[in-house]
Amino acid sequence: MIVLNFKTYIEATGRKALELARVCEEVSKDKGVSIIVCPQHADLAVIVGEVDIPVYAQHFDNIEPGSHTGWVLPEAVVEAGASGTLINHSEHRLSAADIEACVVKSKALGLVSIVCSNNVAVSKACAAFSPDYVAVEPPELIGSGVSVSEAQPEVVTGSVDAVKSVNDKVGVLCGAGVSTGDDLVKALDLGVEGVLLASGVVKAEDPKQALLDLVSGIL
Ligand code: G3P
Repeated sequence: MIVLNFKTYIEATGRKALELARVCEEVSKDKGVSIIVCPQHADLAVIVGEVDIPVYAQHFDNIEPGSHTGWVLPEAVVEAGASGTLINHSEHRLSAADIEACVVKSKALGLVSIVCSNNVAVSKACAAFSPDYVAVEPPELIGSGVSVSEAQPEVVTGSVDAVKSVNDKVGVLCGAGVSTGDDLVKALDLGVEGVLLASGVVKAEDPKQALLDLVSGIL
């Protein structure tokens, strides 16, 4: 399982977001690998309407319908066609209370939840909320080009052990600096079910080739 976060990169905004999602769909179907895209909220509905792979939101807010100008209503993400969401990404941290509320809301709305954490202790704490997945990403490696599976394997294995000790139904992903097929294979060898990545594909000169390189190790 490969989760590609489009973040707010200009290379993955608007029409370019749709182009990138189409590339992901093509590689996913040709190679039989599960690829999930997380575009910005403004691009969600268009991409859902045009591609046949799962599309997740990058975030939603712990709010009820009503007076919350500028916030992201969970129901709006569902209406846009998203089938899952990231929660508590390193670039959009939430309180523990809000993480828990967002996981509960995700379940109520039928959204797959991926809660991000920054270390083993936080992975363990997040597992207690019983999301579908915990994704561990050491912040200092995000966007670095140095893969967590290479630089901090103990954070990955530690998170797998910690999460499974709390609830073995919670899946574990890892991310930060993942870009090559080797990075992906090493991550899977450390016990995760997939990876969460962004710059290695979004910022690549040829995103399709970057995706093909990424999946090459598991074909
Ligand atoms: O959400 C994925 C992310 O934070 C990792 O980013 O650019 O290191 O793959 P990157």
